[in-house]
Amino acid sequence: MENQKLIVSGGKRIEGEIAVHGAKNAALPLLSATVLVNGECVLHNCPRLTDIDAACRILSHIGVKCRREGGTVITNAQGVSGCEVPVSLMREMRSSIVFLGAMLGRMGHCRLSYPGGCELGPRPIDLHLSALKSMGAVIEERYGYLECSAPSGLCGTAITLSFPSVGATENIILAAVLAKGTTEIHNAAREPEICDLADFLNSCGAKISGMGSDRITIVGVAELHGCEHRVIPDRIAAATYMCCAAATGGELILSGANAAHLDSVIPVLRSMGCKVYSFGKGNVYISSGATLKAPHTVRTMPYPGFPTDAQAPLTAVCCIARGTSVFVENIFENRYRHVGELCRMGASIKVEGRVAVIEGVKALSGAETVACDLRGGAALVVASLAAEGSSVISGTAYIDRGYESIEKALRGVGACIKRV
Ligand code: UD1
Repeated sequence: MENQKLIVSGGKRIEGEIAVHGAKNAALPLLSATVLVNGECVLHNCPRLTDIDAACRILSHIGVKCRREGGTVITNAQGVSGCEVPVSLMREMRSSIVFLGAMLGRMGHCRLSYPGGCELGPRPIDLHLSALKSMGAVIEERYGYLECSAPSGLCGTAITLSFPSVGATENIILAAVLAKGTTEIHNAAREPEICDLADFLNSCGAKISGMGSDRITIVGVAELHGCEHRVIPDRIAAATYMCCAAATGGELILSGANAAHLDSVIPVLRSMGCKVYSFGKGNVYISSGATLKAPHTVRTMPYPGFPTDAQAPLTAVCCIARGTSVFVENIFENRYRHVGELCRMGASIKVEGRVAVIEGVKALSGAETVACDLRGGAALVVASLAAEGSSVISGTAYIDRGYESIEKALRGVGACIKRV
């Protein structure tokens, strides 16, 4: 695993169709939500990703039955028993903090190792903790562990988030569905993945309303029953493949996508000269001409703004767009680690704090690069497809956390890419 590399022979135009897999960032909170359900949950369209395998291992560890049948993951938390997630499992997946609200909601206590920082810089969880405390949780941080309990049970309350954190909104929803009384989240995150979580929980008997807006209301219920649910398509994988088409002057149909979730990405690609439209049920078409031009300043924002996860793949496209592109990264501090690698390929990029300025060059050239995080790795794939000559990308384990066999998907549309 660790030593795998992607070898890309660049300069080939991408053409064809890619089926977009289920959303990693929706499937992970859904899997943690199954802890709350007293019965069998059938989750269709669960992507085959290392992060999803890690979430399944956490479920098994705490006594939730969990098995995969093709693209479907089936869970049953009737026998849930464990209330501790060890460091080794927490480390495998940074978003494992989303198990906190679910385990607290179901068991009334849990012990998780502190998630700490990650490739993207510090990932604080103060908003998660203060919200859960206001619902009656007692949380102590001891020896790298979070010891959590709710001696008098969790109680609904009004919570105002100072930032619309996706993870905190998920944890509050998970803690609130079985809590006593009503929880109101103000300044809630509005991401499609939040709506998917609420839709799933409502199918299990929860009473959640307002998802998709900045005010979510959760009326606690006594028990949740099993259900069957289909995970929404991965909007970031879709955006990444659109970037691959844009960078290679290609033409792509993405099937099983949701164009509405790409509302902030599509206009940027159009402004660069790509033709993009949606048709039929869940198809998005993109074609890219010979020359791309720099877009207006791209600022990453909470949804419905431009997603921080699509920033890196788009910077790779902008490297070969005519003119100067400016990016402002407003969500994470450390999200330009791919820039140094792109510069090795001949890109001209300057980074100053949260701002990256890209001077478009005529062409990139193949090089040996290293993926340092998931979306930065995807950016190297985009750049390598567009570059003249051959590239070697190591650090593929990062890319596999978020893209289902990226090399197979791209080979199917004419790219020359293989894994060694
Ligand atoms: C973020 C993205 C999400 C993406 C995910 C995976 C946003 C708003 N969120 O979600 O779309 O799918 O990464 O890459 O784009 N923060 C605090 N205290 C907290 C929680 C967060 O200060 O308790 C700050 C973080 O430092 C960061 C920002 O809020 O600056 C990001 O927040 P959050 O939405 O919580 O991050 P994720 O849930 O990881």
